[in-house]
Amino acid sequence: MSDEVSVGDVRFEHHREGFGIGEARPRISWKVSADQSGWLQRAYELRLVDPENGSAWSSGRIESEHAVLVPWPAPPLASRQKRAVSVRVWGMRAGAPSEWSDPALVEAALLERSDWTAEFITPDRDEDRSADRPPWLFRRDFHLAQDIESARLYITAHGVYEAEINGARVGDHVLAPGWTSYRHRLRYQAFDVTSLLHAGANCIGAIVGDGWFRGQLGYRNIRNVYGDRLALLAQLEIRYADGGTQRVVTDDLWRAEHGPIRSSGIYAGEAYDARKERPGWSSPGHADGDWAGVLTLARDAHQLVAPAGPPVRHINNVAPVKIHRSPSGKTIVDFGQNLVGRLRITLNGAVGTTVTLRHAEVLQDGEVYTRPLRAAAATDRYTLRGGGREEWEPRFTYHGFRYVEVDGWPGQLSAENLVARVCHTDMERTGWFSCSDPDLSQLHENVVWSMRGNFFDIPTDCPQRDERLGWTGDLQVFAPTASYLYDCAGMLTSWLADLAVEQLADGVPPFYVPYVGLNEARPVAAWGDAAVIVPWVLFQRFADRGLLAAQYPSMKAWVDTVAGIAGDGCLWQGEALQLGDWLDPSAPGDGPWAAATDPYLVANAYFAHSASLLASAAEILGHDQDAEKYGRLAAWLRRAWNTAYATEDGLLASDTQTAYALALQFGLLAGAGQLDAARQRLRELVAKSGFRIATGFVGTPIICDALTAADAVDTAYRLLFQREPPSWLYPVTQGATTVWERWDSLMPDGRVNPAEMTSFNHYALGAVADWLHRTVAGLAPAAPGYRRISISPRPGGGLTYASARHETPYGTAEVRWVRNGGRLDLDILVPAGTTAEVRLPGDPADLIEVGSGKHRFSCAYPAPAEDGQNTLTTQRDR
Ligand code: BGC
Repeated sequence: MSDEVSVGDVRFEHHREGFGIGEARPRISWKVSADQSGWLQRAYELRLVDPENGSAWSSGRIESEHAVLVPWPAPPLASRQKRAVSVRVWGMRAGAPSEWSDPALVEAALLERSDWTAEFITPDRDEDRSADRPPWLFRRDFHLAQDIESARLYITAHGVYEAEINGARVGDHVLAPGWTSYRHRLRYQAFDVTSLLHAGANCIGAIVGDGWFRGQLGYRNIRNVYGDRLALLAQLEIRYADGGTQRVVTDDLWRAEHGPIRSSGIYAGEAYDARKERPGWSSPGHADGDWAGVLTLARDAHQLVAPAGPPVRHINNVAPVKIHRSPSGKTIVDFGQNLVGRLRITLNGAVGTTVTLRHAEVLQDGEVYTRPLRAAAATDRYTLRGGGREEWEPRFTYHGFRYVEVDGWPGQLSAENLVARVCHTDMERTGWFSCSDPDLSQLHENVVWSMRGNFFDIPTDCPQRDERLGWTGDLQVFAPTASYLYDCAGMLTSWLADLAVEQLADGVPPFYVPYVGLNEARPVAAWGDAAVIVPWVLFQRFADRGLLAAQYPSMKAWVDTVAGIAGDGCLWQGEALQLGDWLDPSAPGDGPWAAATDPYLVANAYFAHSASLLASAAEILGHDQDAEKYGRLAAWLRRAWNTAYATEDGLLASDTQTAYALALQFGLLAGAGQLDAARQRLRELVAKSGFRIATGFVGTPIICDALTAADAVDTAYRLLFQREPPSWLYPVTQGATTVWERWDSLMPDGRVNPAEMTSFNHYALGAVADWLHRTVAGLAPAAPGYRRISISPRPGGGLTYASARHETPYGTAEVRWVRNGGRLDLDILVPAGTTAEVRLPGDPADLIEVGSGKHRFSCAYPAPAEDGQNTLTTQRDR
């Protein structure tokens, strides 16, 4: 045995916990810790034990260096089946295997439609369809004959739900079942509820609210997108100690009634009247004689699916930093951080008193400023039952806010009375960055907070106004940053499955996923390209070839669609609206698409890029004919683009930073002459703009990479460290704690940008963080899943140190550089099972290859004062 090597963190698919998963052959991953440096895996063995009867199954020794998403080696799991899986590995050098890892448990959920005997039930009562409606309580008493061995609850809703058994909450999910394209894919959840049940009288209940299913949705205030009846589907499966089983399912024996939640909407907020509580409603024996009956709904065609990623949960609390009175006499609570979630309040007062909580991201003239929320009321109301301490948190809403205006509070409001409960998809944090400049560190922190606020079951554009939609373009540009900061693979796998099912027969994905029906899907570049680029990015970062294979038809459909429009000339042209370089600073406030760069120049650049990524995907998946076909297409498209938009000497039809950045990053130029001219022109344009941002959603994520490729990393740093608007750091100087939608969402005069679309929490322009990780700190994947890592820091901007740490699929990788006068010290950590290619900043052409473990390098490098801050100061002083 080689005792210095150990295996841990055994996982299935992208699940942190293997309970209740929907895959019959879940792929398996693990991580290796090795004391010796340069450890590489030669082989592995998987042992699967059936915990029911102890029978074991081994894969035998499998020669492979892969430790990420390796195939399930055994017969597929049947519904409800469990296995305990252990892994051991052999290294390249030692002959003996490692010890076995601790076993990781996997349990399949309900994998067949026929497993479901429950029916959807809905209250037997008519409702007003035009407003946010009160949620329904559903309940049913039942009797268990003997002590139970185990129990599972499989449950979902048309609406959002919380379940209770015998008065106790089931699980800790927020706004379950989450939001998917309900018509095609409705998620259900599995819970182990063994400890909540006992022999004798029991009760199961669930509250179901409007949520995304039938609540107000989208910026045109539509409702009932998926239907106008709330419904519940629940299947409780009990196993007795003697092996007998019993099921309690939603059927016509359930009862339904309204409870204390008087209305509830994701945008609107929630109103709760504690006087209307029904104590004991989910416990046995509650008097439900006057409750409504239920109807069973014919099972519709949608497919029930188990989650591919983690649920939304309450993640942490933020306490108020200040409570003050506004000029108009209102009480305003400041949480010091623009965040997403909701309040929990604790109070004491007279029966019937109503407290109103209005949420906002910003203040103007000292008052909460809610205009940017548009039709989202973002207001919660609590009416007291009186007679003692009361505690409340809304259930079926969430808000994006930093400030709350509190009205009607009984007595003196103090900081102990409220806490902000931050909620988002419960992804594992995997990426960190730090550096010597506090403003840049704050920018990075703001990017993290904007990701947290907008990875709310689906990747949304913003978390506060009447929108919160899965805009494809926003994620397309942010996906690399997201994949570094958090393990978002499971969540985005689900979102991409929705994108694919919603891609119309003509191959065009909706502008946002899930689609709510606001505008016809039209082919729009950079947004539609999410179909190709997001799966590709996830493949690079998480090595999920299966995801690439699953998305391949969707990727191909998008490229084929655009190819059809472009026709033989290989040029996409027309009158139809493109979103283009959305929101570049020159675009008018009410016309964010009217940016400086020709939108069809952008569209054709993306077309060539997507065709080329599709060709690479085809090659990886072994679709050889496609690889050749799309490779050829991409070459044609590059040529067509070049002919249409570039002069022979490398000048572009749009003389903009975005045009040059696209040309350089997507490889659209030919020959050294064109390349040199384009590089030079890009440098000139950035200087001409006074090192201020002149790019929008398309150009901003790539401008620093393009400058780096143009041998102008110093120019990229000057852009990065610009503090005058428009710039990345201007919001930081204004006290921003998240990334803004507009460069000047808050204008220099302290007023909120008057444009109707002004959010303070949009991650798209934060996509520059990926450059901070890959180039400033210098940590990037060089092969899918970081099995090969590129370490190539490019210090600059006067920074004296920078570091990046990433929990790669193979383990922790870390880079940290420090400048000491005329030297630079570089410390790196390379995870076991991987290799790294290191390029020292003094000599980036020289490649040093190292294996796993800790390594230190030192090289001569000019002092920081020579590359940045002093120049910037001069620039600012001028
Ligand atoms: C969203 C954007 C989105 C855009 C496209 C906006 O309303 O907030 O982030 O990409 O629309 O039209």
